[in-house]
Amino acid sequence: MNKIIIFDTTLRDGEQAPGASLTSDEKLEVALQLEKLGVDVIEAGFPVSSPDDLRAVNMVGRRVKKSVTCGLARCLEKDILAVQKSLGKVSKPRIHLFLATSKIHLQYKFKKAEQEILEIACNATRMARRYFDDIEFSPEDATRSDRDFLFRVIEAAITCGARTINVPDTVGYSYPQEIYSLIRDIRNNIPNINKAVISIHCHDDLGLASANSLSAVLAGARQVHCTLNGLGERAGNASLEEVVMALKVRHDAFGDCNTTINTKEILRTSHLVSSRTGFIVPPNKAIVGGNAFRHESGIHQDAILKKRNTYEIMDPKDVGMGETELVLGKHSGSHALAKRLADLGFKLDSEKIRIIFEKFKALTDKKKEIFDDDIVALVEEEMREKKQVYELVSIKVITGTDIVPQAFVAIKYKRKTSQAQSSGDGPVDACYNAVDKITKIKTKLLSYKLEAITKGKDAQGMVRVEVIAKGKNTVGRGSSTDILEASVKAYLDALNKTL
Ligand code: KIV
Ligand code: ZN
Repeated sequence: MNKIIIFDTTLRDGEQAPGASLTSDEKLEVALQLEKLGVDVIEAGFPVSSPDDLRAVNMVGRRVKKSVTCGLARCLEKDILAVQKSLGKVSKPRIHLFLATSKIHLQYKFKKAEQEILEIACNATRMARRYFDDIEFSPEDATRSDRDFLFRVIEAAITCGARTINVPDTVGYSYPQEIYSLIRDIRNNIPNINKAVISIHCHDDLGLASANSLSAVLAGARQVHCTLNGLGERAGNASLEEVVMALKVRHDAFGDCNTTINTKEILRTSHLVSSRTGFIVPPNKAIVGGNAFRHESGIHQDAILKKRNTYEIMDPKDVGMGETELVLGKHSGSHALAKRLADLGFKLDSEKIRIIFEKFKALTDKKKEIFDDDIVALVEEEMREKKQVYELVSIKVITGTDIVPQAFVAIKYKRKTSQAQSSGDGPVDACYNAVDKITKIKTKLLSYKLEAITKGKDAQGMVRVEVIAKGKNTVGRGSSTDILEASVKAYLDALNKTL
């Protein structure tokens, strides 16, 4: 078998998507799920970019055992030392060095000649070798670089110690045949190329990122950079679920190329990334969109009932769909819940299970069917509530099409309950104004996103807000079957993190 290494950059390039920033705890949570998904390499961040990111990369490197943890660095001493600081003591570290090689970058970004770039690449790789065995080198904007120069830089990087050569289509400019010939030419023209794994990194500016990545695999690339839900800078990166499922479903076309991804974890990972970044997955997104396995037309439905693969090229269960279907209901007991919690990977003592069971029972009064994702939300809500300084006691909202919304909010702070009333542009705004009256914290709401956790009209809503308060940028989340309650919980969660 020809193993295709899956290099996941959701936590680095994915996080570069405007508005997708993650806290270090969220990065760790996603990284642990990526490990469960079976990705080979997790690019956890760009340590020199901020102390928070350095810490996040370190946390991921210490906790993740099976996957390699990677940190990004420019070819600068301070960047390499930042990766060394975050990953120097972890068991499976990789450094990813990058340096642009295209004429346009050399002329306008660096104002440097080709010879200088060659030297910088070589010196940085040699320096990285002092701290790391596993070095990946990316000639940024490779697809728009002069071929001869690109080949010389790659050869030099390998001579100086790079073990993986990643070929970025940084601005998503290429098309599949062009990528194929580039990878083929790299294999045929660089004398020491056999000492390195060839990797591909495609952006989706023309909607070709996954197709280009697969074309690179056909030409001999053995590592693919990708992200969950295709998240990433601008239009995003090649999407992990598309690349992995294309290799699996079209095994006939890709020879014996295989990944070791546990595809049944794809949907769960996609949901987690969506909920933590606040980037909602469009319903028509391949593999993970809500409509990806839904059949609307009568002709299709009829045929599916006769033989599924008349209109289905993969089994939804293979990506984890159906695994999270209806699990429990009003009459389920605490043993059934405890077993389900254990199956979902939660290690909780009997007291915590008792608390979650109470919440579960309260939820069954509001909601007929309880799904795995509802249970995960209950556990997360409980963990968040434990850390709350400001705690929601109650809300009442009066709203309608032709009245100014009014909110009455009560919050507990240090055992004392305070109440306030306020109006607003909408019911959420009214609630947030009332909260501000109580806390007296000056805040600015940067983003607000609401998503249904499961399906049905009675589904729980998950709200994610990004807030600036006390000069800090924080993210808060809250869930409930009542979206106004979820909104206030998310807002308080964000404020609590600033205290
Ligand atoms: O798109 C790009 O070129 C990158 C590099 C850092 C590999 O993300
Ligand atoms: Zn990129």
